[in-house]
Amino acid sequence: MILERSNMFNIDTINNDLSRVIGKEHAEELKSLMRYYRLCQSAVNEIGTKLENLDGEYQSEYNHNPIHHMEQRMKAVNSLFNKARKKHIPKTIDAIENNIFDIGGIRVITNYISDVYTIKKNLLSQDDVTLIKSKDYIKDPKPSGYRSVHLVVSVPVFLSTGPVETPVEIQIRTIGMDMWASLEHKLRYKTSVEAEKVEHFENKLIEDANEIFKIESNMQEIYRDLSEPGVFKNE
Ligand code: GTP
Ligand code: MG
Repeated sequence: MILERSNMFNIDTINNDLSRVIGKEHAEELKSLMRYYRLCQSAVNEIGTKLENLDGEYQSEYNHNPIHHMEQRMKAVNSLFNKARKKHIPKTIDAIENNIFDIGGIRVITNYISDVYTIKKNLLSQDDVTLIKSKDYIKDPKPSGYRSVHLVVSVPVFLSTGPVETPVEIQIRTIGMDMWASLEHKLRYKTSVEAEKVEHFENKLIEDANEIFKIESNMQEIYRDLSEPGVFKNE
């Protein structure tokens, strides 16, 4: 099941936003970036289909769905240019293509911790998926307590002119990790916390993240004991 989180590819919105930032007078640049947004959307679609197929295979072979649900999003034009500014990347198509790999993003929410690695391994073993970047914040959580596996991969998108390797950012995490990350994000950005309360609040959030991880590890143990052979073959 794929949910659209926000900012899915809407040709008019993206065109309007790009015209505003780049300026209508730079018609060629505008056209190239629109083309690139479309490529990134196609690459997200390709990866989404691959993941749905993997989940379906596990469902029918092992009676187990590694994937709880997925969310797709395209980076909003203003976020793209804010990021470019922060990272001192020029506003040119070449610089963006070579430095920003998360215009198309897909978040995979798994049922168990081991499913994160099942998904990662099976996706990366496909011939047309190329790993560009990989970070394991489950093995090494961020100081905030954040856990997730982040991948940037590229897949060929087949245009009328031939295939174009296109990057997609994939975040893979469990339901518990996702629940924590969503609430933590809201707490951090949507509330105003007095400075002296911040440390206490951060420490509590780290404890909560650890607690959730412990609970998910325990539940995985129970599931492992109860499940049929084969489900955990990819660990
Ligand atoms: P970017 O190029 O900005 O993606 O840099 P990076 O690859 O070093 O980024 P990182 O691996 O830190 O991943 C950034 C994304 O991970 C963010 O957009 C968030 O979705 C998520 N993320 C990272 N750290 C946290 C955190 O502490 N809390 C929450 N809620 N999300 C986080
Ligand atoms: Mg990122």
